[in-house]
Amino acid sequence: MNRYMKKILLINASNRKKNTYKLLTSIENILKNKGYETELITLYDYKIDYCIGCEVCILKGGCFIKDDVSSIMSKIIESDGLVIGTPVYLNNMSGILKTFIDRTCSWFHRSPVAQKPTLLLANTQGSGLKNTLHSIEEVMTQWGVSFGGTISRNGRSFNKPIEEKELSHFIKLINLDGKKYSPKFKEIYTYNVQRTLARNVFEKDKEYWEDNGWLNRPYFPGAKLNTIQKLYGNGIYKMLCKVINPIDEK
Ligand SMILES: Cc1cc2nc3c(=O)[nH]c(=O)nc-3n(C[C@H](O)[C@H](O)[C@H](O)COP(=O)(O)O)c2cc1C
Repeated sequence: MNRYMKKILLINASNRKKNTYKLLTSIENILKNKGYETELITLYDYKIDYCIGCEVCILKGGCFIKDDVSSIMSKIIESDGLVIGTPVYLNNMSGILKTFIDRTCSWFHRSPVAQKPTLLLANTQGSGLKNTLHSIEEVMTQWGVSFGGTISRNGRSFNKPIEEKELSHFIKLINLDGKKYSPKFKEIYTYNVQRTLARNVFEKDKEYWEDNGWLNRPYFPGAKLNTIQKLYGNGIYKMLCKVINPIDEK
């Protein structure tokens, strides 16, 4: 049988192969039983240097830093679905996850992971789940992923097994191949901010958005938008285009 097996990448953002890792392993087992190929990586096994703030990736593309970040980025790009798992550190994601995310800054402008089905997992002893998941979700909105939901556990619920139904929206998105995703207004808004910047401000983005056929759309192709959402997206875009002018016209 020559059937293409969809591959799901799971990212562990804890140094320990303990709570986050165990929860990710449970998710991985459910995905394997569903017939998906999986890979579970731990960020601490890679060399991930700090962003140096040069902004070259945004303005020109590419990064000077020679470490393992580009190989992790490639793994994400090549996957059919992504699961990011973090422990809560001081009511937020772990530092290594934030360090990695900082290095994906160009994805905020020119996302190679648009509409990638993505599931988030966070676990804590007691506090910070809401803030942690919200922080990562903000980034996922900028990456333009198809958001497959969140799973969380705390000290008291840690032993509650991960159930298949907690993954059901994520799995549905994987099987739809990025199509028929219904974005929230915030996602449509964020898309249209970047669409405006691509049209009026960043040459590099303009080329990318044109090549992908995104400049003329209120959201990524294939997503399911109702009439109000389409009007909202195009309306925001028109309004922003009037106030965000090309830099050389200022
Ligand atoms: C640096 C650090 C910061 C933490 N901050 C919090 C916190 O703000 N709130 C909380 O309830 N637990 C906190 N914890 C506990 C972890 O979130 C919790 O033990 C988690 O399950 C660890 O996951 P792991 O086994 O994958 O490392 C912290 C732990 C560490 C090491």
